Amino acid sequence: MERLMKRLPLLMLLAAVILTAAQRDPYRNDCVRCHRKLPVTLDKFFFNYLLKYSSEREVKAALYSFLRHPTKKKALASEELIRQYGLMPPSRLSDTDLRRAIDTYWETYKVFGKIK
Ligand code: HEC
Repeated sequence: MERLMKRLPLLMLLAAVILTAAQRDPYRNDCVRCHRKLPVTLDKFFFNYLLKYSSEREVKAALYSFLRHPTKKKALASEELIRQYGLMPPSRLSDTDLRRAIDTYWETYKVFGKIK
């Protein structure tokens, strides 16, 4: 028991680290949370970007540019959707989190390596 008590702070620290890591999933906590309310799913948007920009680098760069400064000119979504739901608000995520979210988004929907 005494040994356990000595280790308790360490165990609590470990639990805290694990919890924070789980919470720091900007893709699910930010992107998915808001997109759940939209009629157009995130995978549909992803394929628009993939069709237009093809390579991983260009898709990610275009996404980053749009998510930081969304404009109607850059948007691939239909005018109808934008009229109804408005342009996406500029992302409030930090640079690290935004890049991480884009990486998760890419990993979730990329088709390369899945077609066999
Ligand atoms: C507060 C709500 C909200 C959040 C948070 C949000 N989105 Fe959006 N997003 C929207 C809305 C509304 C649209 C549709 C209008 C548009 O295209 O601008 C949209 C459109 C998009 C599009 C299509 C853009 C285009 O070319 O028209 C992509 C891709 C996208 N979101 C990805 C993301 C990713 C990735 C994240 C997380 C980093 C994210 N969104 C976070 C509301 C949100």
